[in-house]
Amino acid sequence: MKNLKHFIDTNDFSRQELLDMIELSLKLKKCVNAGYYPPLMEHKNLGMIFQQSSTRTRVSFETAMEQLGGHAQYLGPGMIQLGGHETIGDTGKVLSRLVDIVMARVIEHKTVVELAKNADIPVINAMSDYNHPTQEIGDMCTIVENLPRSKRLEECKVVFVGDGTQVCASLGFITTKLGMRFVHYGPKGHQLNEEHKEIMERNCRESGGTWQVSDDRDSVRGADFIYTDVWYGLYENEMPKGERIQVFGDYQVNRELMQLGNLGCKFMHCLPATRGEDVTDEVADSDSSLCWEEAGNRLTAMRGLLVYLTRYQKKGSELGRAALKEELDDFMNSRLGE
Ligand code: CP
Repeated sequence: MKNLKHFIDTNDFSRQELLDMIELSLKLKKCVNAGYYPPLMEHKNLGMIFQQSSTRTRVSFETAMEQLGGHAQYLGPGMIQLGGHETIGDTGKVLSRLVDIVMARVIEHKTVVELAKNADIPVINAMSDYNHPTQEIGDMCTIVENLPRSKRLEECKVVFVGDGTQVCASLGFITTKLGMRFVHYGPKGHQLNEEHKEIMERNCRESGGTWQVSDDRDSVRGADFIYTDVWYGLYENEMPKGERIQVFGDYQVNRELMQLGNLGCKFMHCLPATRGEDVTDEVADSDSSLCWEEAGNRLTAMRGLLVYLTRYQKKGSELGRAALKEELDDFMNSRLGE
């Protein structure tokens, strides 16, 4: 496909392209909420490769395809030849002839990179041991919808608390790319690494954003959004409960920690959460909690990404993309009576 672009890492996209994805996702959400399901994926098939289990990612991709008039095929662990006798590259070549777009949740990042290298259709990284870019787009939709009163996106401080997981890295990437203030507050030995820091530094130089990695509790002060993830390590051998409480116990998101944030500070979690460990019931179920909205916005982001990658990219040039954006806007607005 001409002008093929994969969605492996948000750092491969400009700030404006990411803002376009967020805007498109929120527009499609508005359409669906108004009862109009634009058939933008009609006659299109999505191949969904999963090397690991998933609730939000799997269900949101499948629902998004159905809502937009397309079809999704679940290719779960052990269901296809990937990782058996067929190479990842050959799987990419074959799927390019059978479906229109592929998403892959992989154990190792190099698997999704190799898949993309060999595919002639867009490949979406649906989480690897390095990053979780579809989560980033959904999270930014949630943040945009819940900006503190009288604050612009660039003025917001987002603090990730706890283990420097791939979700933490992803949040650092997109917030710094968009010019926001990002902090990872986590224990030494579990903080974002030098490679992550270099990327955030580069992003901030371009966007005017800021980043900080710290084990000082004061770094949470002034947060507009406090975000966390599980402590057990998705890609390493699971850390025994006693050990993880010892390492991360001080980093639980509870009422005291939330009080370090600004008035009206919101709680976010990519989920699944381990209640009583990374977050208390009181915070997860409070009025400040956005985690359910956030889970719903995984669907918002999937719709936007599927349309962006299959439609916007087709036009190639900046002029072409702008024209198609206008065409899609007119198409959606006419149905919404705007
Ligand atoms: N947040 C997230 O990716 O959830 P799933 O693992 O359930 O897809």
